[in-house]
Amino acid sequence: MRISRELGADELLEMIFVYLTEISSLRDYDEILEALANMGRALSGADRCTVWVVDEERGKLWTKVAHDMQSVEIPIDSGIVGYAIKTGEKVIIEDAYKDPRFNPQIDKETGYKTKSVMVIPMFDNENKIIGAFQAINHLGSRVDFDERDMQRLMLASTYAAETLISAKLSQEIQDTQKEVVFTMGAIGESRSKETGNHVKRVAEYSKILALAIGMDEEEAELLKQASPMHDIGKVAIPDEILKKPGRFTKSERKIMETHAQLGYEMIRHSNRPLLQAASIVAHQHHEKWDGSGYPRGLSGEDIHIYGRITALADVFDALGSDRVYKKAWPLEKIFNLIKEERAKHFDPELVDAFFENSEKILEVRERFKDEFEENSKKVAAEGASIRVLGAYGTKLKGFGTTSFLLNDRHVIDAGNILDTLEEFSVELDTIWLTHSHLDHISDIAYVLDDYYAELKSPLCIASQKETIEALKKHFFNDAIWPDFSKIPLVNGEGMCIEYRTIDLGEEYPIGENETIEAFSTDHTVASCGYIYRKNGRGIMITSDTLEIDNAIERLNEDESISAFMVECSFPSDMEKLALVSKHLTPKLLFDKLEGLKRKNIILYINHIKPLYLNQMITEIERLGEKYNPIIVTDKKILKF
Ligand code: C2E
Ligand code: SIN
Ligand code: SIN
Ligand code: FE
Ligand code: FE
Repeated sequence: MRISRELGADELLEMIFVYLTEISSLRDYDEILEALANMGRALSGADRCTVWVVDEERGKLWTKVAHDMQSVEIPIDSGIVGYAIKTGEKVIIEDAYKDPRFNPQIDKETGYKTKSVMVIPMFDNENKIIGAFQAINHLGSRVDFDERDMQRLMLASTYAAETLISAKLSQEIQDTQKEVVFTMGAIGESRSKETGNHVKRVAEYSKILALAIGMDEEEAELLKQASPMHDIGKVAIPDEILKKPGRFTKSERKIMETHAQLGYEMIRHSNRPLLQAASIVAHQHHEKWDGSGYPRGLSGEDIHIYGRITALADVFDALGSDRVYKKAWPLEKIFNLIKEERAKHFDPELVDAFFENSEKILEVRERFKDEFEENSKKVAAEGASIRVLGAYGTKLKGFGTTSFLLNDRHVIDAGNILDTLEEFSVELDTIWLTHSHLDHISDIAYVLDDYYAELKSPLCIASQKETIEALKKHFFNDAIWPDFSKIPLVNGEGMCIEYRTIDLGEEYPIGENETIEAFSTDHTVASCGYIYRKNGRGIMITSDTLEIDNAIERLNEDESISAFMVECSFPSDMEKLALVSKHLTPKLLFDKLEGLKRKNIILYINHIKPLYLNQMITEIERLGEKYNPIIVTDKKILKF
């Protein structure tokens, strides 16, 4: 924005608004400096404007971007700017070359001819000078700056001081965060508790291997201290993925693989040798000798030796440990894999060094055994969980409709299966339907369409008689969608779909110590909710319903049900619509919940219509405060 004519008050305000909006969105100190200088130039009508910042420690003034110039540094007392900063005075000069304070050095370097100059010092809250605005050569008909230009540049400098102080603060906070992250990695306090002593062991293995191949003590020690940070990038991976209690889909795996690049980006800017080593380790610990690793597919000695060493140490340790997604392997199987992967995954020289030093390595393994392994196993056996595949009452970009995964093979409702399960959808055994509305059944159609050629056994659709009749008559009827119950599997016995009529109140086994039982609910079509039980605990899921009296009665009687998932679709001021469509509002829900006598129930809420999400959250928090309700979202894992 270059202005050469005089500005009206309205235009001025508009301009300030535009600049401040831009500046408040910037995070980078250099960009902020440039934007401030642009604002100063536009406001004062100058040809050039520079924001100088005081660097007290070094006795310098510096600016990253003067217009059309490289970054510049000058002594703190140099020139007219230095004068203004020393004295705290504003300065206006008509002809710089006639003023003894002027330093023509920069003009000489740039070939630019300075005539009029205006400098306004910037103060912080304690009245300390933190820098200055410098405007050069007024544009347009007059060359000199006047009192009004000065007023306007002062306005700019007031905002600039504020902005620069907070930008500097956030820079400091960022630096502090990096330190914290570093410490976190180093002491192995990683988010996935299972990894407990993992980072300590990897550190020790790395040093053993480094010394074994002839690295000197000092560098081996550096690597030992850096290698615990190999997975630091995992702090940026969402919990739903990091803690997924099962195998990854392809796209989940892709996201997890970003942890190598992310970790590198997080620490690569540091000059500390330790952090530099750590950034190499974070970046390269998943590269493979044969070039099939990630993130860059480096091979052989193109992979830094730090990366090659940590790769072997990490995998040896990961295989020997329980993870949320797998059990620990027996030692012999681990050794076999490492042998097999010699010159494939791992540097052959390191594999040899590994076996030559296996005694030392096993001693470390014993010394840093995971003590709480027993504990976490117990918790895993006691606790139970389901995974939300779709949490909402209708579709909208980024919002999936009702579907809950109970275990690898059983799911309640099919509103949003493919989004999360992807290729694992084909492994589903039974879809337990609550009712026949489209937002609860739609993905059955696409799971079959996508994967029918890979299905090995029929996909079972289980529900009440009326719901199954509705599906046969209105959905898989060869008009809306093919009648898959008549289409034979190409890769197995039977038809693609098998219908199964269930009875309310009957408990059906769906796995070891796992059952499902339907109970009646109150919707505009035949409907039911389900109680899913695992290892003696239960979660009750209503799905769409207006009445919940019988559900509450059941909860009051049955202490083994530890969680209640109930729908809540519309905000309270849409009660009329809720009543005719047989859904709950926060007001209706919490009125009815007064009948709940137990205090030890986790309350989950689903089926919100996403357009009203914010209003619903506010209402639910206000009206339901005493229940601590958890509003569920797509992909979340819910404990009960
Ligand atoms: P991690 O658990 O620390 O595993 C580190 C590396 O050890 C893995 O890198 C892999 O090379 C090796 N590894 C671990 N377990 C096995 C296994 O059962 N079989 C084989 N052949 N190799 C294994 P990778 O695969 O790049 O995985 C990086 C990280 O991603 C893992 O760190 C883990 O946190 C996560 N991850 C990988 N696959 C899954 C999964 O299916 N589910 C979950 N929840 N996490 C996974
Ligand atoms: C990295 O790229 O992984 C770190 C620096 C280097 O090894 O070139
Ligand atoms: C549903 O029951 O979720 C679909 C109809 C409605 O939104 O009222
Ligand atoms: Fe990793
Ligand atoms: Fe619904």
